Amino acid sequence: MAAQPTTTQSTVRIGVLGCGNVGAAFIQLVNDQADVIEARSGVRLEITRVAVRNVSRDREVKLDPNMLTRDAHAVVDDPNVDLVVEVIGGIEPARELISTALGKGKPVVTANKELLANVGTELFAVSDTAGVDLLFEAAVAGGIPLIRVLRESLRGEPITRVLGIVNGTTNYILTKMTEEGADYTVALTEAQRLGFAERDPTADVEGLDAAAKAAIIASIAFGARVVAGDVYNEGISGVTGADIAIAKRLGYVVKLLAIAEISADGEVAVRVHPAMVKNTHPLASVRDSFNAVFVEGKAVDSLMFYGRGAGGFPTASAVLGDVIDAAINLRKGAHATIGTFARLPISPIDQTTSEYLVGLDVADRSGVLHAVTGVFARHGVSIRTAEQEGMGENARLVFITHTAREADVQACLREFRTLDVVKRTSGLLRVIGG
Ligand code: HSE
Repeated sequence: MAAQPTTTQSTVRIGVLGCGNVGAAFIQLVNDQADVIEARSGVRLEITRVAVRNVSRDREVKLDPNMLTRDAHAVVDDPNVDLVVEVIGGIEPARELISTALGKGKPVVTANKELLANVGTELFAVSDTAGVDLLFEAAVAGGIPLIRVLRESLRGEPITRVLGIVNGTTNYILTKMTEEGADYTVALTEAQRLGFAERDPTADVEGLDAAAKAAIIASIAFGARVVAGDVYNEGISGVTGADIAIAKRLGYVVKLLAIAEISADGEVAVRVHPAMVKNTHPLASVRDSFNAVFVEGKAVDSLMFYGRGAGGFPTASAVLGDVIDAAINLRKGAHATIGTFARLPISPIDQTTSEYLVGLDVADRSGVLHAVTGVFARHGVSIRTAEQEGMGENARLVFITHTAREADVQACLREFRTLDVVKRTSGLLRVIGG
């Protein structure tokens, strides 16, 4: 049986789907801040129903047991719920629950990047038809206010590129590898011990989480329809201590970057991969589990947003901001429209350009450099710097190219693998800010 709140005209009753880290922190914030929020915004927020997996589990936040249910549909359908917060994640049943809530005229606030990066357009259409908000600040870069900035403050800005560290787990691991010389597996285990990385870390370390966020960022920044499947994606599990050491020696740090670009003729390119970032670039100083997003626009030039991209309270803070907006709009009978998403051409990774670091373990004898540079020349890849590290059995050639096309660099790598003098390609990193 649901709790029966004392409702006034200004009260907006909230149903929460999911009471994990973010859900519990959000409820705590509402409980603590309700008076201040009411005084500032004129709406009184009240939690009335909460869908949980296990009703008898002990939780950090104090909840009236009558509010709890295992049935998420009961929350969405409850006449004592005006607005729904979805923090269960995943595509189903979240999609169906959100559609149902919107169809009933209940605004929805979600932190679900996977859902929006796959079926966002469908849900935005449902929200527009229903005339209620579907807000999602918390889906990208946790507590950092980015989506609202892109949607509102920068809505007239011709944004050309967004570059970001949008995954805290991988940034923590790369920071440990850079600053303590830790191996990838040691750094990952430490991240799991501290609760930054999940027991199954695949979504974070293989870049899937960042790719979903990149798709959302590109959609909003360029008004283009971009889904997770459009994002080229490489994670950090292949980054070695040797890659990090070379980067360091050359004045770079290795970061997992999400990059969304639009060309002058309107082609969109979105990718996630490890990259060498020049020490002097502002993103190079973003350490540990912090996130930062660098936005470049024709008029505004460069902007950077920095903060905690994960964690219960930072993410709940973003959810709460959206809830207040949606509650105010609900009381006004208004809603924020997301606008239309154009079907712009998505450029494949092959067509993108960058500078590259290429590492090759080679035989240490006369003519090897000549053979290797001949490959670069045949594919039109121009070399900026070349050097040899180690000698004899440990000889390694390290090149940094001028700006080159990905397809041409990949063709070089394929040809290197056919050369007897190249024992293995020991690193490929795109270079940013070189
Ligand atoms: N797992 C993500 C991170 C946070 O490590 O940044 C949620 O998207």
